Amino acid sequence: RKKVGVLVSGRGSNLQALLDACADPSFPAEIALVISNVPGVYALERAEKAGVPTLVIPHKGFPSREAFDAEMDKALRAAGIEIVCLAGFMRLLSPPFAEGWRGRMINIHPALLPSFKGLHTHARAIEAGVKLHGCTVHLVTPELDDGPILVQKAVPVLAQDDEDSLAARVLEQEHKAYPEALRLLAEGRVTVEGNRALIRDA
Ligand code: GAR
Repeated sequence: RKKVGVLVSGRGSNLQALLDACADPSFPAEIALVISNVPGVYALERAEKAGVPTLVIPHKGFPSREAFDAEMDKALRAAGIEIVCLAGFMRLLSPPFAEGWRGRMINIHPALLPSFKGLHTHARAIEAGVKLHGCTVHLVTPELDDGPILVQKAVPVLAQDDEDSLAARVLEQEHKAYPEALRLLAEGRVTVEGNRALIRDA
């Protein structure tokens, strides 16, 4: 089983989806470390309940983004991590960190990329009047919310939706998309051609 490190900043429902998937011994990955840049978040409790080691690295204590990322990098490598999952990790990554994990780091974004990069995706989708919205799991590159797409799930946007109702519908799909994408990567079924991820059948 591939050793996975998960980076979090908040409630950790996507972390929970990954923990639940990894609880099945036939799943090709196991979570070996959870790192939060914010102390006291619920994601840390979820990891502890699952018996997974946690580390808090408060970004505020570092003189630069590079220095903070270097500390995370050191911890991930010391733990023998092979794949990094960003799960509601709300920090931009420095290019050296992104490059160092290229092809081995994935992110979940609450929109159908390349639409609605960045923050407040659900409000922006409603505002734009799109009829389909969703989530994307992609390989991380130094560009924000860019990089080869592994899995996408779409949901309808309903006339009566507000930000919260739409977020909840998307989140349910995130919890399916993230374990699927981690499985693809952990099984070595992903190759990258330009900005496309090609997925081999199991
Ligand atoms: C999720 O909806 C995730 O897609 C989003 O934050 C939420 C975290 O929830 N990520 C981003 O916006 C990344 N820029 P969670 O902590 O319950 O997984």
